[in-house]
Amino acid sequence: MAGVPIGKDIYWVGAVDWNLRDFHGYRTGRGSSYNAYLILDEKKCLVDTVKSPFTGRLLENISALVKPGEIDYIISNHLELDHSGAILEILRHCPKARLLATGHWIEGAEKYFGPGLPVQPVKTGDTLSLGRRTLQFIEAPMLHWPDSLFTYLPEDGILLPNDAFGQHYAAGSRFDDEVPEAVLMEEAARYYANIIMPYSNLVAKMLGRIGEMKLDIRLIGPSHGLIWRRPEKILAAYRDWSSGRTREKAVVAYDTMWGSTALLAESIAEGLQSAGLETVVMPLKASNRSDVAAEVLEAAAVALGTPVLNNLPLPSVADLYTYLKGLRPRKKQWLAFGSYGWNREIIPRFAQEMKEAGFEMELPAVAARFRPDGGELAAARAAGVRLAGLAAGAVETEPKEKPE
Ligand code: FEO
Repeated sequence: MAGVPIGKDIYWVGAVDWNLRDFHGYRTGRGSSYNAYLILDEKKCLVDTVKSPFTGRLLENISALVKPGEIDYIISNHLELDHSGAILEILRHCPKARLLATGHWIEGAEKYFGPGLPVQPVKTGDTLSLGRRTLQFIEAPMLHWPDSLFTYLPEDGILLPNDAFGQHYAAGSRFDDEVPEAVLMEEAARYYANIIMPYSNLVAKMLGRIGEMKLDIRLIGPSHGLIWRRPEKILAAYRDWSSGRTREKAVVAYDTMWGSTALLAESIAEGLQSAGLETVVMPLKASNRSDVAAEVLEAAAVALGTPVLNNLPLPSVADLYTYLKGLRPRKKQWLAFGSYGWNREIIPRFAQEMKEAGFEMELPAVAARFRPDGGELAAARAAGVRLAGLAAGAVETEPKEKPE
């Protein structure tokens, strides 16, 4: 794929990665892309690079439009190596280019690439004139790393925010209105849940700042996936997700050794469903941690179940728990459950650990020894009903109206 115009004299020159299936633990079932953008003005400017194996593709796309040696500036919005991995090779082909990035980027880059890069720090409020247009910079710490930067092109109404608003979605098309909307929004939500969710407070602040700055955003070019020609769609979704708003939905995620925790999971799910919550049951033998995170994003209730192995939760459940702990999902009611054989302390201890880690949990853990009997299954079902009741209080179906 050659460069694709996204505005007047502005081109996507990145690379599509059809084969990517794991992005630091996030299962990327539809691959991804590493989006870089070339602005051809009186001064020539490249915004972001690509993951290093795709350097040749980036150079090919640039060279079809301009000699790389004519590039005056390279802006690196984010240090993570899926965007800056090609930087040394690109600089070799662009000997006169000055690199612009944040101070945090420079700090990390010295460790990745060594000292001596021709880099100039930028911060919020700084601008760069390319001739007919002037770029504006907005620091965006933690979206996705402390070094992250948004580059805004006011004359074109284009925001290049790197990781924010992205999706891990490889496609032959480059724009949001060229792919099925349901698939696009599913991938955008998966991406938010697995990459952005821990920083929801900062997302909300950034959306507020963008509003205060009255940026005229007509196109958003993220660093992964499709480019938003209808930016209001993803801006509205980010407002919703960053608010932590939930809906009447529950997730029951578990693993099982001999089927007992599975029986508890089914009974809890029955209780949740009977109380009116849309319930997704996710056995971990069939679901990756990132699949669970995506389902958890809008869920009001989550039950996490494990058997006991060697006096600990099963490693697959510990893996999911660690992953979710890092993602810091908010405004949900949690329930721990599981079966045990010889140590009745482990499931309650797991529940306590979850509470101490910040998971909101008002119900006691549901536990059954060896195989749950009829009474224990009934208790699990009742816990599902109670969990649904607790979760319902947290669901905001509509924005609250101001009193007259
Ligand atoms: Fe796409 Fe934080 O890197």
